[in-house]
Amino acid sequence: MKILTPREIVSELDKYIIGQGQAKRSVAIALRNRWRRQQVPPDLRDEIAPKNIIMMGPTGVGKTEIARRLARLAESPFLKVEATKFTEVGYVGRDVESMIRDLTELAVSMAKKKEQENVKVKAHELAEERLLDILLPKRREDSREEEGGEKEKVLEVVKAEKPESQSTREKLRRLLRDGKLDSRNVEIETTNQNVPMVEVFSNTGIEEMEFNIKEVFGNIFPSKKKKRLVKIPEALEILFQEESQRLIDIDNVIEEAVRMTEQNGIIFLDELDKIAGTESGHGPDVSREGVQRDLLPIVEGSTVTTKYGMVKTDHILFIAAGAFNASKPSDLLPELQGRFPIRVELDSLTREDFLRILTEPKNALITQYKALLETEDIDLQFEESAIEEIASMASKVNERMENIGARRLHTVMEKLLDEISFDAPDMAAEKVTIDKKYVVKKLTDILEDENLSRYIL
Ligand SMILES: Nc1ncnc2c1ncn2[C@@H]1O[C@H](COP(=O)(O)OP(=O)(O)OP(=O)(O)O)[C@@H](O)[C@H]1O
Ligand SMILES: [Mg+2]
Repeated sequence: MKILTPREIVSELDKYIIGQGQAKRSVAIALRNRWRRQQVPPDLRDEIAPKNIIMMGPTGVGKTEIARRLARLAESPFLKVEATKFTEVGYVGRDVESMIRDLTELAVSMAKKKEQENVKVKAHELAEERLLDILLPKRREDSREEEGGEKEKVLEVVKAEKPESQSTREKLRRLLRDGKLDSRNVEIETTNQNVPMVEVFSNTGIEEMEFNIKEVFGNIFPSKKKKRLVKIPEALEILFQEESQRLIDIDNVIEEAVRMTEQNGIIFLDELDKIAGTESGHGPDVSREGVQRDLLPIVEGSTVTTKYGMVKTDHILFIAAGAFNASKPSDLLPELQGRFPIRVELDSLTREDFLRILTEPKNALITQYKALLETEDIDLQFEESAIEEIASMASKVNERMENIGARRLHTVMEKLLDEISFDAPDMAAEKVTIDKKYVVKKLTDILEDENLSRYIL
């Protein structure tokens, strides 16, 4: 695993997000600092608190996008939650600590995947042997035969019409590996733990109960064996999963997951502004302030009980984001403000940014539409001037009406291409070129009529 330098992180983010250099820098530094902390001697390491970040900026300029991309780069448990999620029900909504449980859950599946990777080769070998045993239920090597019970022996003798020779097994193995058996069916026995799902509401949250019930009733409801007829590749996959489950040491996985959560965990707290005070200056309502109060200990460092044990939150990095147009970071509880020392502002997007957003990112809108229409055998081309016109129009609409940032490009593009998108299947395979004239023709009327553009663009 390669640890990216801040410069490398920024250049990775550049592949998807245009501009917003300051925000990219901050998150890159924060990510790198996690790694730096790991290198510091243990006694000092514990003293170094993460420098949490607030990203501020108008809607649709890339806040969430930066976090999403960062998540892929950071090979650490990364959870994105909306702060508003906790205000939805009742006064404080979902229990705020649940974000730590979710993060731990993520870490467990990451650690499991990693461990699975380690045992993959072995598990594949075992799965293949088991499948060959099933396909060829004949006499095994002598030593194995000794181990088998009386019943098994009888079965083997019955089924063994001719003694298995190493070469038939090897022949079959070759056929299996070459995919020659892929269309054949095989009957395999799968086990699935039958545990009734019971949802119980309690203070510790639903997730905890589900776990306890499994533990308590696990033995009462015995695992059920079921015979299933499946295609060979699927059988191999099922056996592989079973074998890798067996090879993985779950205690190790959990230990590693808790360590990863505590040391490398990152929580992206979106819509933070929505739980801050309101414009009217009356301060946040009970529910929002409640969420802030609940957040405090978690951000500050506390211990949360999860089904994998206690998880300390002291070193989890929090990256918050919000538009902060109706409220300011200073509307947050003072204690909470202090826990987010780094503030970065994201810039509004200009026509020039739009131009680049349309074409440069790996997942650029134009590229997306081209790919979509290619499936209908249509070669969609955009002239340079057309793209410029789209960018101009999008920024004009943003100026005149609400500024929704790059999201405007989506509405404009959708409107622009709606005729082609609709007719595409009926068109003979051909090349369609969008030029400036086409853009003007499709969009000017809507743009000119303010009422119309309010609804359509
Ligand atoms: N700077 C940018 N470069 C490339 N694409 C962008 C940029 N900013 C926004 N986009 C695109 O616009 C859309 C909305 O962006 P995003 O979800 O990041 O907005 P946001 O800043 O989180 O807004 P909100 O405050 O409403 O949550 C996404 O599809 C994203 O890819
Ligand atoms: Mg967002």
